[in-house]
Amino acid sequence: MTQDELKQAVAKAAIEYVVPGAIIGVGTGSTANYFIDELGRIKDRIPGAVASSEATAKRLAGHGIKVLDLNDVSDIPVYVDGADEIDAGLAMIKGGGGALTREKIVAAVARKFVCIADASKLVQTMGKFPLPVEVIPMARAHVARELAKLGGEPVLRPGFTTDNGNLILDVKGLSITDPQALETRINAIVGVVTNGLFALRGADVALLAGTEGVKTLKRA
Ligand code: 5RP
Repeated sequence: MTQDELKQAVAKAAIEYVVPGAIIGVGTGSTANYFIDELGRIKDRIPGAVASSEATAKRLAGHGIKVLDLNDVSDIPVYVDGADEIDAGLAMIKGGGGALTREKIVAAVARKFVCIADASKLVQTMGKFPLPVEVIPMARAHVARELAKLGGEPVLRPGFTTDNGNLILDVKGLSITDPQALETRINAIVGVVTNGLFALRGADVALLAGTEGVKTLKRA
């Protein structure tokens, strides 16, 4: 199976987690896009969705799914999103698509985070995938210097502006042995909007597609 076929298979499996009659939170990226396509098939079962990016909002609307403003929603039973890396404790690196801040906000509201990915995203120690950090433009150089002090090599994502009008620094060279501590540490740098570590609020369930099928990992 190709990586795309695995992403499609895991997106299909995630439909089981959709709560009928309830708003669903929807992530961003190619795996989330397959999930949106599956959601389109059962759209009559849900009143609408909260999107984690403009791109996701557009795709949901394209399927005739009502997109709600998060400020008008008080309960999201389930949020479904992909990941760039995930560890056995269900902490993740996200933000390869640059939507990390809105993803983290929707995930904070959701009661259950269902991570969908192909099994290649499961790693022992995160950090091989460069950690995305969203920064306020005027703080770019300051934040880059602070990230270098933590042992990382920040690289400005070329030609990219987030949905919030900010920049992304992709940080290479970090070996992330304590994801919660690093998430807290980086978020404390003035000028950082948020970073792509989802450890303080990791996934509750991970659905990982491999050639032998979709495996389910649950938070201990
Ligand atoms: C976007 C994300 C995505 O979930 C992550 O990049 C995984 O993407 P894909 O499903 O395309 O592999 O965090 O900001």
